[in-house]
Amino acid sequence: KRFLDYFKKNGHAIVPSSGLVPKGDPTLLFTNAGMVQFKGVFLNEETRGYKTAVSCQRCMRAGGKHNDLENVGRTARHHTFFEMLGNFSFGDYFKEGAIKYAWDFLTNEMRLPKDKLWVTVFETDDEAATIWKKSAGVSDDRIVRLGAKDNFWSMGDTGPCGPCSEILIDQGVEAGCGEPACAVGCDCDRYLELWNLVFMQYNRSVDDKLSPLPSPCIDTGMGLERLSTVLQGKKSNYDTALFSPLIHCIETLSSVKYGADRENDVSIKAIADHARAIAFLMTDGVLPSNEGRGYVLRRIIRRAARHGRFLGLKEPFLYKVNAMVVELMGEIYPELKAAASLISRATKGEEERFFETLERGLALLEE
Ligand code: GLY
Repeated sequence: KRFLDYFKKNGHAIVPSSGLVPKGDPTLLFTNAGMVQFKGVFLNEETRGYKTAVSCQRCMRAGGKHNDLENVGRTARHHTFFEMLGNFSFGDYFKEGAIKYAWDFLTNEMRLPKDKLWVTVFETDDEAATIWKKSAGVSDDRIVRLGAKDNFWSMGDTGPCGPCSEILIDQGVEAGCGEPACAVGCDCDRYLELWNLVFMQYNRSVDDKLSPLPSPCIDTGMGLERLSTVLQGKKSNYDTALFSPLIHCIETLSSVKYGADRENDVSIKAIADHARAIAFLMTDGVLPSNEGRGYVLRRIIRRAARHGRFLGLKEPFLYKVNAMVVELMGEIYPELKAAASLISRATKGEEERFFETLERGLALLEE
């Protein structure tokens, strides 16, 4: 709410989250970022009654581009389903405006300590590096240049894209891998990427050619879960108030304590993440099946059920964790409440079928 209010105060229109299934866009499996619902605006194929916008967008990163599924449970920061905070400019402000807003919001509104923040820019983007130094006062040694893998963002194989600049927070040596080479850009949890500012300048076509957008635009993305972790003084997204009721629910169902054993923790975190993904995918009309989006959902349900088995759960349980997701998030997303009984029935049915198959398979294996 504070993010939305900050940008509203600065002239942005608050735009509600769209669903997880992109409307009329066959190039994407799921909405994977806040910019997806604005794709046509970036390409000048669609106009809206505003030139700047802000949203809190529900996103899914499983299957297709930006797929985090196999990392979930193993790190403190990866999710299949998450909520992305973003501000957007459609031919209004560009690099300078985006950097000023982001720095002001994090350091003045959220009061994050400047001495723990780092920024990255695309390796050839001198302009962004200069703005960070001159407008935000970030010193040269805190501005790191990285290549396209880290600092060039694309929504998918085709569509709007551009160089980007990230703001990271140093969570301390103890949060990291401890390797001597650990630095900004390392995959461990020490330098946590908080906010990505994309300087949207190109459209990528199917033959991989980049053509300039009608006007330079801004697309930013900051995970609500990561920001919560930092503000609540935690080291893992799963230890924040967004997840602890779900973790507690899984502890109660399985009688396994969170925080006592590394492998059990992986299972508990994976189930907590997947329960949110399952509830929101079903709310947005996806049901388990053998192809496309439905198949990704089926894999998520089975992955969660398998982790449940590792915790000793031999009966359907996931639908009960889903009920907790509805309780936690139903006020903000009334559509979730409306879909509650569908979510419960569809998840339980899928779990029952999976457990039966698993029992039969394991019996054969024993024989
Ligand atoms: N669209 C910006 C991001 O997802 O990081």
